Amino acid sequence: MTESPSRSGAFESAVDKRVEQFTESISFDARLFREDISGSIAHADMLADQQLISPAERDQIVQCLSGILQELENGEFQFRPELEDIHMNIEQALIDRLGDVGRKLHTGRSRNDQVSTDMRLWIRAGIDRMDELLAGLQKSFVQLAIQDGQVVIPAYTHMQRAQPVLAAHYFLAYCEKLDRDRQRLQDCRKRVNQSSLGTAAVAGTSLNIDREQTARQLEFEGLLQNSLDSSSDRDYMIEFVFCLSLISVHLSSWAEDWILWTTTEFNLIQIPQEFCTGSSIMPQKINPDVLELTRGKAARVIGDLQTLLVLVKALPMAYNRDLQEDKPALFDAADTVESCLRMAIPLVEGSRLKRENIKAGLDRGFLDATTLMEFLIKRGIPQRTAHHAVGDLVRQATRQNCRLSDLSLKDFQAFDPSLDASIYDVLGIENAISNFRSTGSTCPEQVSRQLSQWCERFQLN
Ligand code: ARG
Repeated sequence: MTESPSRSGAFESAVDKRVEQFTESISFDARLFREDISGSIAHADMLADQQLISPAERDQIVQCLSGILQELENGEFQFRPELEDIHMNIEQALIDRLGDVGRKLHTGRSRNDQVSTDMRLWIRAGIDRMDELLAGLQKSFVQLAIQDGQVVIPAYTHMQRAQPVLAAHYFLAYCEKLDRDRQRLQDCRKRVNQSSLGTAAVAGTSLNIDREQTARQLEFEGLLQNSLDSSSDRDYMIEFVFCLSLISVHLSSWAEDWILWTTTEFNLIQIPQEFCTGSSIMPQKINPDVLELTRGKAARVIGDLQTLLVLVKALPMAYNRDLQEDKPALFDAADTVESCLRMAIPLVEGSRLKRENIKAGLDRGFLDATTLMEFLIKRGIPQRTAHHAVGDLVRQATRQNCRLSDLSLKDFQAFDPSLDASIYDVLGIENAISNFRSTGSTCPEQVSRQLSQWCERFQLN
């Protein structure tokens, strides 16, 4: 029988080859090797300090683990699928090299707390990586706001032209969304960054271990207080994948916007051609595939969240092998979002608004209708009455195929004889935009206040 750390003397037969293949996770958990080795080194240090192993044994273990880490980093480590997972592959390598000393590492520990520790460490690093990428994308949006932010673009509701906004206002809207994504990750990080190491299989251990010490060494903020809870739950992981899902949803709706904006019909933006692909049959095509895949990949991340929720929904307390299935979903979600962010940063940075075309089309869609209505409200006309009256004027302008500002004073006076030429001061896009003054709205003063805050944060200008 092949020696396997988990196959004790209780077994009378070797494992069926088919079961070996069915139950292995090394094909997808090998990437936890760094975390697994850090956890084992912290554990070995603690075992020595607690006199559960000798200092010399600790030194041998730590040194050997460092050698194994080197081999893993260099791609020289020989994985053995029959050893199931990364934890047992590393432990068996230690045993192969150190004999009985290696057999002492798993003292006071189970794979159940070990795997959760590894994943907490992995997710913690993942959060930090994601945070950096999100900041990078925010920075790209701020740079674009500096570059093209003064351009007035139509804002849409119901996908119909609604009101004019400064392009900077639009770009900075994504900075806000991404900022909440970052805050959510930081909040999630607190719950991820708790040590499960030492809760062992399910009830803890009778050995005199020191969980505070390993937690400190691994830079966890605290300890999980209940071994049953610690070995059974994946809520920290689900929360992380939820945060990722929301990021991918934000990226997806941004991608959707820009896919539309690159069409001949909208023609508002030029994305870098290095980020487009062609068609194998239609020579004229320049397609926004990166944006489409960003939209498409969000489906995977949302699916991963679903997988994790369903995976744990009916698990009896505490550890069940089902939990092994958490990793493909976790890694897929993290890899997918990371790859989308790595595309989005340079894509945003290299994009430019099509100023001429945007300007030429701004007179369509009565973007100044709300400002006109509010002008009437300021003169004491009830909102509903003003709303109806401007609707009538829009209908009239549509019939005459002209802008509101092209209507004659007489047309306005037909509604209210006291109106004078000052009404033209609120008509037209430039006038309209400067009238949106409430906090957080799109007038140039409000937007430049936002922009300077973002510039300051990223030390840009
Ligand atoms: N490969 C396993 C997992 O990913 C490690 C824990 C296995 N524990 C056990 N008692 N079989 O969940």
